[in-house]
Amino acid sequence: MSHEKIETNISLMGILVALVVAVGGLVQIVPLMYQAQVVKPLPGVVPYPPLELAGRDIYVREGCYNCHSQMIRTLRYETARYGHYSLAGESVYDRPFQWGSKRTGPDLARVGGRYSDDWHRVHLTDPRAVVPESNMPGFPWMAERLVDGGLIEKKLRVLQSIGDPYSDEQIAGAAAAVNGKNELDALVAYLQGLGKHAPKGG
Ligand code: HEC
Repeated sequence: MSHEKIETNISLMGILVALVVAVGGLVQIVPLMYQAQVVKPLPGVVPYPPLELAGRDIYVREGCYNCHSQMIRTLRYETARYGHYSLAGESVYDRPFQWGSKRTGPDLARVGGRYSDDWHRVHLTDPRAVVPESNMPGFPWMAERLVDGGLIEKKLRVLQSIGDPYSDEQIAGAAAAVNGKNELDALVAYLQGLGKHAPKGG
């Protein structure tokens, strides 16, 4: 009887539908807002050292994410190719995260240690020198630009203020850690660190 009342009164039904959607939305969305505090870093996962942090920012600046994801899905063919699927605890210190879904090039979540530093340097400067069929653009200017130590120190301080466990010594030594390093050094350091603390195997 009461259900008939709802079905024949469109305003009442509208209000009730809005109520159900609102409650459902709250139940699904609110816990996500607190997830960042809940997800714990995997063993060994620490905030990016200064040089890798600089490299990560260059990765974002150059738009590498337009062609590369950093998220291995829980599917057999993904884990067979790349290694263990990605876990939330790996990217707790990634702001913004680089998961993505666009794969013009391969996923990079486990690329650390797969190639030598020299291979990366040549590949990033002129991809076709090592992979003739590559359609990845070259980034030759990175070798000519130095990393700004003062800026990195400030970034570490900001990250510390929002909860990343950087020590004061690390911050004090940040500028020295990137002294004389160029952008290519930083990006290679970042790439070589990707997936370092991931669980082994598929
Ligand atoms: C227009 C798309 C595109 C952009 C932008 C791009 N890449 Fe690539 N990348 C590719 C393609 C395609 C490949 C596969 C061929 C090759 O190895 O060059 C690749 C391969 C790679 C590889 C080797 C991965 C492996 O497992 O063999 C690395 C590392 C890499 N890219 C890093 C980067 C970085 C860092 C940037 C940003 C500075 C970048 N790429 C920007 C398309 C792109």
